Amino acid sequence: MTILILGSGGREHTFAWKLVQSPLCQKLFVAPGNSGTADIAENIDLSVTDFDAIKTLVLEKQIDMVVVGPEDPLVLGIHDFFLNDSDLKHVAVIGPQKAAAQLEGSKEFAKEFLFRHNIPTAAYQSFDASSLEAGYNFLETLSPPYVLKADGLAAGKGVLILNELDEAKAELKSMLVDAKFGAASTKVVVEEFLDGIELSCFVLTDGKHYQILPTAKDYKRIGEGDTGLNTGGMGAVSPVPFATESFLQKIEERVVKPTVAGLQKDGLDYKGFIFIGLIKVGDNPKVIEYNVRMGDPETEVVLPRLKNDLVEIFQAIANQKLDKIKIEIDERAATTVMLVSGGYPEAYEKGKEITGLLNLTDVLPFHAGAIINDGKVVTSGGRVMAITSFGDTYQEAIKKSYQNIEKLHFDKMYYRKDIGFDL
Ligand SMILES: Nc1ncnc2c1ncn2[C@@H]1O[C@H](COP(=O)(O)OP(=O)(O)O)[C@@H](O)[C@H]1O
Ligand SMILES: [Mg+2]
Repeated sequence: MTILILGSGGREHTFAWKLVQSPLCQKLFVAPGNSGTADIAENIDLSVTDFDAIKTLVLEKQIDMVVVGPEDPLVLGIHDFFLNDSDLKHVAVIGPQKAAAQLEGSKEFAKEFLFRHNIPTAAYQSFDASSLEAGYNFLETLSPPYVLKADGLAAGKGVLILNELDEAKAELKSMLVDAKFGAASTKVVVEEFLDGIELSCFVLTDGKHYQILPTAKDYKRIGEGDTGLNTGGMGAVSPVPFATESFLQKIEERVVKPTVAGLQKDGLDYKGFIFIGLIKVGDNPKVIEYNVRMGDPETEVVLPRLKNDLVEIFQAIANQKLDKIKIEIDERAATTVMLVSGGYPEAYEKGKEITGLLNLTDVLPFHAGAIINDGKVVTSGGRVMAITSFGDTYQEAIKKSYQNIEKLHFDKMYYRKDIGFDL
C-alpha cells in the first residue's frame, strides 16, 4: 500500500517509524514531515489543512490510506472531505469524521456526551456572553480552585485554573466578553476541580469494536517538579505504574465501553484513535477530556511498545474488523524525554544545528521540530526531539534516555531532568 501521514511532529515520526516496518507498506509519504521522517519516507511540503492540495497529492501518488496525526484537519472535516469526493472515497482515512471530532473541538460537546452516556467526569455548566451573570453565580457555588475552559481549540492554552473567586470571575469575563482566546472562548465550560493524579488511556476503534493500547503519563509543565508554563509535553512514561489491573478494569467498564457505545448510539462515525485524558480521584477514573488523535509525546512511548503490524491494524479499522486483531504489547517500560529550544514555550530561536545523533546507542530518537537544512539537522520548532528508551523498569529506561541525551547538543538545548519523578 501507499500511505500518507499528515503532520510534522514526534508523533508523526513515530507513526512513520512503525509503519515502514510493515511489509504491507510499500511507499510512505509524510506531509509536511521533519528531518526524522525524511530519513525513512518521502516528505511533501504542504499544509495539513489544505484539503485541495492533499487531494491533488493523494491522486497523483495513488495513495491508499491517510493517517491523520494532528486534530486540526479532523475537526475541520478531512475525513468527510474524502467520503464526499467520488475520486477520494475509496481511500482509507484513519481519524474520525467531523461530527465525532467535536469531542475534541468543543469542550461543551464533550461534556454533554459524557453526561448523556453516564461516563464519570467533573460537574460543569457552560456559558456565553449573554449568560455571564449566571456564570458568576455558578462560580460562587463551587469551591476553589476554579476551572475555566475555552470551548474551542486553543492549542492547549485554553484552560485556566484559578485559586481566587474574583480572579475566576474576571477571567470568565475576559474569555467571554473580551475574546481572550478568540472565537475559541465564545463559550466557556466552568467545571468542578478534581484532585488526583492524571494518566491517559488510548483506544483504537472502528466505530463498532475497540482495542485498548497501553496507558501513558505525560509531563506538561516546562519546569522540574511540574512547575512553570504549560507545554505540548516534556516527556512520557508507559505503562503508568499506578494503573493497576483493577483500575484498568474500571477504566474499560466505566469509560471505554460507554464511550464506544455512546458514539454508536449518537450516530457518530469514528475510525481512529481516542485519547482519553483521565484523573484518578480516590480509586476511581474520571474523564478530563477526549482528544480525537494520539498524544505527543505519548505516541513516542505507546507505539514502540505495540508489537503488532500497524498497517494491519489500520486496515482492520478501515474494514470494521478490529475485533479480529489481537493486540500484543511489549512488557518492557518505555520512557521519552523531550529536548526543547531554550525559551520555549515562549519565544525561542530556530536553525540551531543538532549534533551527536550518530553517537546514540540503544535509543529511538524521534524528531519533532527539526528539519534538514544544507545537509544538517537543525531545529525548527520549540519541541525538537523525543529520546525514547526501553527498560525492564521505567527507572532503567529513563536512565538510558538521560545517558544518551548527554551525547546530543544544540545551542540553548533544554530538557526536564525529572521525567517519572512522581511515580
Ligand atoms: N476538572 C478539572 N480538575 C482538575 N484539573 C483539571 C480539570 N480539568 C482540566 N484540568 C487540568 O487542566 C489540564 C488541561 O485541561 P484539558 O481539559 O486537558 O484541556 P486541554 O488539553 O485542551 O488544554 C488537564 O491536563 C488538567 O491538568
Ligand atoms: Mg489535555
